[in-house]
Amino acid sequence: ARITLRQLLDHAAEYGYGVPAFNINNMEQVLAIMAAAKAVDAPVILQASRGARAYANDTMLAKMVEAVELIYPEIPVCLHQDHGNDQSTCFSAIQNGFTSVMMDGSLEADAKTPASYEYNENITRKVTETAHTVGVSVEGELGCLGSLETGKGDKEDGHGAEGTLSHDQLLTDPDQAVAFVRATRVDALAIAMGTSHGAYKFSRAPTGDILAMNVVKEINRRMPGLHLVMHGSSSVPQDLQEEFNRWGGAMPQTWGVPVAEIQQGIKYGVRKVNIDTDCRLAMTAQFRKIATKDKAEFDPRKFLKPAMDAMRALCQQRYEEFGTAGQA
Ligand code: G3H
Ligand code: 13P
Ligand code: ZN
Repeated sequence: ARITLRQLLDHAAEYGYGVPAFNINNMEQVLAIMAAAKAVDAPVILQASRGARAYANDTMLAKMVEAVELIYPEIPVCLHQDHGNDQSTCFSAIQNGFTSVMMDGSLEADAKTPASYEYNENITRKVTETAHTVGVSVEGELGCLGSLETGKGDKEDGHGAEGTLSHDQLLTDPDQAVAFVRATRVDALAIAMGTSHGAYKFSRAPTGDILAMNVVKEINRRMPGLHLVMHGSSSVPQDLQEEFNRWGGAMPQTWGVPVAEIQQGIKYGVRKVNIDTDCRLAMTAQFRKIATKDKAEFDPRKFLKPAMDAMRALCQQRYEEFGTAGQA
């Protein structure tokens, strides 16, 4: 059954758990997430980026989600637009059955230039006004994702701000967050706290100074009922990096967001945790493995089935770690 982000995150807040939001681009990812959710009885957030919608086609995505709702009628599913860059992206998502949209006004419509506070507040409020009249939830974002280590926005990973950003831009200001939520009436707020998109988040295992958990705590102290969203929350597990490289991959050593840090965030109001990179890595490590081990193999299913299984295991683990398991 389809539910809104608001319905799901209100439940998560009441029972003190977090919900991973996994990105979807194809049938195998959708099936992997649903199988994991079914195995542990977890509610689901499926999110599609603009890139995913262009890749898979809106109708294909919408019908795939309808299909898994028929296959798993007992699992609540929220279909969410990830990183909407303007009003039309959000509204066309709604027309395609999405029950939640992210209006990412932290960047201008080009999705790479950091936007002014006024621009962000204005465009997010407009989306919320319309979305709420048709019962759709809205996620906003305040602050730009990027590395506190290098000061660089995460454009290099294919997403987000370009160029070097100031500390002020890389960390959400709690005062501004209060004003933003009041003015826009968003259902959930993505914050900048030292995470960034993609595999290359940290050049060493992150400690308290790299990940600004104090920002989460302060925003939660001021607005205890607000649902916070952590983007760039892949953990980039060392064993997945090793598996990828074992089969001919050449991924430089990197570190992601430790699960323990996310669990800490969940104690302070983080309710939606965005994960794409881990799923990609889990799948493509298996492609590499099959391609290397059986060079004569040419049935795509022989690649996709192990890839799906690896992604299912990853998703199931996150459902358990975030307390989502048992909450469907
Ligand atoms: O926010 C970034 C997600 O990983 C989606 O990435 O735009 O390449 O589909 P994408
Ligand atoms: P990762 O690249 O860390 O998986 O982040 C995904 C994300 O934030 C999607 O919006
Ligand atoms: Zn994101």
